[in-house]
Amino acid sequence: MRPNGIIIAIDGPTASGKSTTAREAAKRLSYIHINTGAMYRAFALYANQWGVSSTDDSRISGLSERAYIDFDENGNILLEGRDVTKEIQVPEIAQLASELATLPQVRSKMVAMQQEIGKNGGVVLDGRDIGTVVFPDAELKVFLIATPETRAERRLDELVSSGTNITLEKLTDEIIERDKRDSERALSPLKKASDAIELDTSKLTFDEQVERVVELAKGKVD
Ligand code: DC
Repeated sequence: MRPNGIIIAIDGPTASGKSTTAREAAKRLSYIHINTGAMYRAFALYANQWGVSSTDDSRISGLSERAYIDFDENGNILLEGRDVTKEIQVPEIAQLASELATLPQVRSKMVAMQQEIGKNGGVVLDGRDIGTVVFPDAELKVFLIATPETRAERRLDELVSSGTNITLEKLTDEIIERDKRDSERALSPLKKASDAIELDTSKLTFDEQVERVVELAKGKVD
């Protein structure tokens, strides 16, 4: 065992419910939650603020050296110390994050930060490559799946309630496009680890999916 408990890796495609499940499971276990997608999004916001395009390799390298990304005690994502939790939710930042996440210099910076934050255990990390690359030795690995349509419907509700105007069709197309890029990229693609437990969230209520993770975690700790 690690000093603070086990490492729980929750991977899966866009809008599969990873972050909400990870956040609630972490709360029930009194663990820390690390939303790694939010880190890529915060970096995308940073690049956007500096007007740097994802094809400008050398400037992206410079930015990834300088970017200061962190979480506060409530799990909100901080960029240069500023809470950007809301700003990173918009679809343009999600697309840019997916593009930037294909770049080796960006991934190595993010992965190093995630390993540093999680190494003592007592953490739930959610992302695409947690069980395969960031913590291949995580004690519990869960891979969440759901159809693109189910995922688009869920994400639409979130976006509409936060004031973003987008149709279900456009959102489904964007999700399919992001899935394709995230799964086909050369570096750390979205992939289920061979020892991960697959959970189809379209067939479970939110409470059921959180409980499954908590039960599995307790099984590992005992
Ligand atoms: O989970 P999300 O939609 O907030 O993630 C935003 C983008 O970041 C996603 O399109 C792919 C990328 N990402 C990644 O490559 N690796 C991770 N561990 C987390 C996210």
